[in-house]
Amino acid sequence: MTYETLLVEVRGRVAIVTLNRPQALNALNSTVMAELRQVLAGVQKDGDIGAVVLTGSEKAFAAGADIKEMQSLDFVDAYLGDFISGWEEVAGFRKPMIAAVSGFALGGGCELAMMCDFIIASTTAKFGQPEITLGVIPGMGGSQRLTRAVGKAKAMDLCLTGRMMDAAEAERSGLVARIVEPERLLEEAIAAAEKIAAFSAPAVLMAKESVNRAFELTLAEGLRFERRLFHSLFATEDQKEGMAAFVQKRKAAFRNR
Ligand code: HXC
Repeated sequence: MTYETLLVEVRGRVAIVTLNRPQALNALNSTVMAELRQVLAGVQKDGDIGAVVLTGSEKAFAAGADIKEMQSLDFVDAYLGDFISGWEEVAGFRKPMIAAVSGFALGGGCELAMMCDFIIASTTAKFGQPEITLGVIPGMGGSQRLTRAVGKAKAMDLCLTGRMMDAAEAERSGLVARIVEPERLLEEAIAAAEKIAAFSAPAVLMAKESVNRAFELTLAEGLRFERRLFHSLFATEDQKEGMAAFVQKRKAAFRNR
């Protein structure tokens, strides 16, 4: 399958999805959104794929939503068409997805990276929510996910001034999980994805679901939710295998069942 705006490669149990609009620094237009949704829907159903790496180019992960496409939109079109709400499907993807970010991750690009489960950044990465410089505000979750990731002070700073933060500041602030040299970015992200994809899929999906609930529930409800998921994993063959392997001092061979 070929796509206009994406490159898709499957290596073992990992799908590598590369945003590919080099002429526009991977600006996110409606084709990117539609194609990414299509790819992820396929990956969701494919039991042979356990994790996804989402990346861009060396210069840009994505420089934001496509300004040229948005420019002429009016309120009624945006409202009635529920403009950009389709990205929520990307955020709701159930398998683990790692963002491998090099260069610019601005506006919708930063928001897309934040829809992933964690971000591995190259030393060249630059994150920002520059929508204010265009007379608008973040619309794909920037004011919400960024605030939850880095707290009010940094989120306000970025959303109100439109300034960029480099990889070191992003890691210090909790936006980025790891920083690596640019030439090692993809390798590091794929290795992390391979590691995750080799674990028990039900446990992996429940771990993701449980961490995400921390953003929505009270502590008491979140703890109850986590405990119920934990209990349910004792119904899996992989729990038997994982614990037997530990006791027998061997490597577990998970069957994803
Ligand atoms: C459309 C874009 C684009 C974007 C870059 N390009 N960003 N096209 N939408 N978001 C295009 C440029 O027009 C140019 O095309 C080409 O990509 C190369 O960009 P340059 O500006 O020439 O590169 P450079 O000088 O290196 O500057 C890089 C940059 C700058 C600092 C990242 O491009 C920039 O500021 N881009 C916009 C960033 C931004 O404001 N993002 C937020 C968008 S709003 P041509 O044809 O001229 O060569 C948003 C809202 C999300 O994301 C919320 C929901 C929709």
